Amino acid sequence: MEKKIFDITQLGLAAIDQAQTLDQLTEVRNQYLAKKSELMSIFGLLKDLSVEEKKSIGLRINEARDQLTRALDTKKEWLEKQALQAKFAEEQLDITLPGRALELKTAHPFFLIQEEISDIFVAMGYQIAEGPEVESDHYNFELLNIPKDHPARDMQDSLYMDDVTLLRTHTSPVQARVMEAAKGQPVQVICPGKVYRRDEDDATHSHQFGQIEGLVIGEGVNLGHLKDTLLVFAKKLFGEKREIRLRPSFFPFTEPSVEIDVSCFVCSGKGCSMCKQTGWIEILGGGMVHPRVLTMNGYNDKTMTGFAFGIGIERVAMLRYGIDDIRKFYQNNLRFLKQFQGR
Ligand code: DAH
Repeated sequence: MEKKIFDITQLGLAAIDQAQTLDQLTEVRNQYLAKKSELMSIFGLLKDLSVEEKKSIGLRINEARDQLTRALDTKKEWLEKQALQAKFAEEQLDITLPGRALELKTAHPFFLIQEEISDIFVAMGYQIAEGPEVESDHYNFELLNIPKDHPARDMQDSLYMDDVTLLRTHTSPVQARVMEAAKGQPVQVICPGKVYRRDEDDATHSHQFGQIEGLVIGEGVNLGHLKDTLLVFAKKLFGEKREIRLRPSFFPFTEPSVEIDVSCFVCSGKGCSMCKQTGWIEILGGGMVHPRVLTMNGYNDKTMTGFAFGIGIERVAMLRYGIDDIRKFYQNNLRFLKQFQGR
């Protein structure tokens, strides 16, 4: 009987060793330790034995059961640990966020051109001046030789805060502010900024747009200086082969006044849809600072002369980039804006 108990124990230990899963292990446990198992049924045979034998065989059975139980428990613990590790491995979460792709950002085309134009003039020695967008009638009109009843005011209606305060209609008032501050001394400035008008918005008009004003005052400044300055500007912006032409025009604050055209950069002057078959594209207005503007702003018009000009920022950007509608500058459409990436 002892031999039998020994054999069962060996078989049991081998089965425990081979069990691969917790289920298999439970089966082994049932097979070897359940009430009706081979080992436990030996208890039933004890009644036919002597007291001495009962004692020693009973002891053997208990030992065998304990040995198997310990082996089962150890294996169970190990299998459970394995199962947990497998589960961890399977359910592992990646809690790190993927990195964000770095997109190459760009300035708005309005500012790209504003900066490009500013750079051209700064390279020629100009300083940059700024003025308020909420401006007084005094600077916006009066000091620019546009008195109260002047018809030129009709073309520049704007939003008025009160009778004498308005959203500036052009950057020209910065001219007056700069002259006032210079106290009769020479100046050479550009003034970029936003301006406002009571305009119906369409493909070429907007109630808000940008301008760059230019002003140079000194002894002996003449129209030739204006022409050459703007020729340099046109070549830098539209290409070395560009020519410019001056046409007579009218502005209350300049005399003479000119409209400046650049030779068409698409057809080089032959005539195309860009230049409306004329070979020329109008880019800005300018002229010699009116003597009355000089004296009103503290200059001696006998010794000092000056030239001035005004550039529409969007207009130049539209020509430069081939943009067909000014409203695209303000709609924040990413498909439009992204086209300027990397410029
Ligand atoms: N202020 C003018 C406008 O808004 C543009 C302009 C024309 C500015 C001639 C100037 C200039 O300085 O000399 O229409």
